Amino acid sequence: MGTVIAVISGKGGVGKTTASANIALGVAQNGKKCAVVDFDIGQRNLDMILGLENRVVYDMVHVMDEDATLNQALIKSKADENLFFLAASQTKDKSVLNETKVKKLVDNLKESFDFVILDSPAGIESGFEHTIKFADVAIVVVNPEVSSIRDADRAIGILDSKSQRVKDGNFVDKLLIINRIVPDMVQSGEMLKSEDILEILDIKLLGKVPEDKGVVDASNQGKPVILDKNSVAGNAYKRISARLCGEKVSMEDIEALDRGFLKKIVGIFT
Ligand SMILES: Nc1ncnc2c1ncn2[C@@H]1O[C@H](COP(=O)(O)OP(=O)(O)OP(=O)(O)O)[C@@H](O)[C@H]1O
Ligand SMILES: [Mg+2]
Repeated sequence: MGTVIAVISGKGGVGKTTASANIALGVAQNGKKCAVVDFDIGQRNLDMILGLENRVVYDMVHVMDEDATLNQALIKSKADENLFFLAASQTKDKSVLNETKVKKLVDNLKESFDFVILDSPAGIESGFEHTIKFADVAIVVVNPEVSSIRDADRAIGILDSKSQRVKDGNFVDKLLIINRIVPDMVQSGEMLKSEDILEILDIKLLGKVPEDKGVVDASNQGKPVILDKNSVAGNAYKRISARLCGEKVSMEDIEALDRGFLKKIVGIFT
């Protein structure tokens, strides 16, 4: 049975979809069979970041409504044979999902994959609740700013009250990614420090990802930044993926480094 990971944030635009794509590819590169599912109904863009938008024929709603089989709808990534993608429906009708349908889909995916990564929509509405309902683990993505931390805290609160695991008396492991760190801004006090964020949210740190212009370029080209050996964010995602696969990878002190130095040491991390 695979592990179901919901990627959540509360606040929109902090990097959930980017994280989902890169981590999915990262664990696949570590030999794990991974399915990454876009739960952002009506606003899909995980397909573009993965460079698979032209290959989408069936989406998750087709599978849930039995208009297509899972095998028909899953798209194999060109970047790694262990990675498969399931698209979100483009419908504007958010009520297309319900708990029974989501459970069946997630259960089926768990049977065939080591990791099932669910990219949640922004906010804490019904789409978010469907994403977290059957998750074993949540990856919480934040930016080092107060509004992001506050919204993440709210999302974690809902996760801890509404997920099935919690209702069954278990807990959902929560792992934090601090994304878009600009070392100079942390040092000058314009951005929150990792220690302060961890103190507020009180969850385990999975990794820190620096601000990196290459992320936008990579996403626009449909090639997740983890494929770029020279990218600082790509290398951060490599380390995050290795940690998720159980490897012990030391936590880098991104904030202590200036950006020029950061670029120079990319080679050491690869
Ligand atoms: N480390 C980074 N450095 C620079 N840009 C980044 C980084 N991470 C993400 N971005 C950019 O931030 C923007 C938002 O990212 P993304 O779409 O992954 O966020 P999201 O949380 O999924 O948004 P939404 O809530 O709308 O679904 C994108 O343009 C992405 O390329
Ligand atoms: Mg998104």
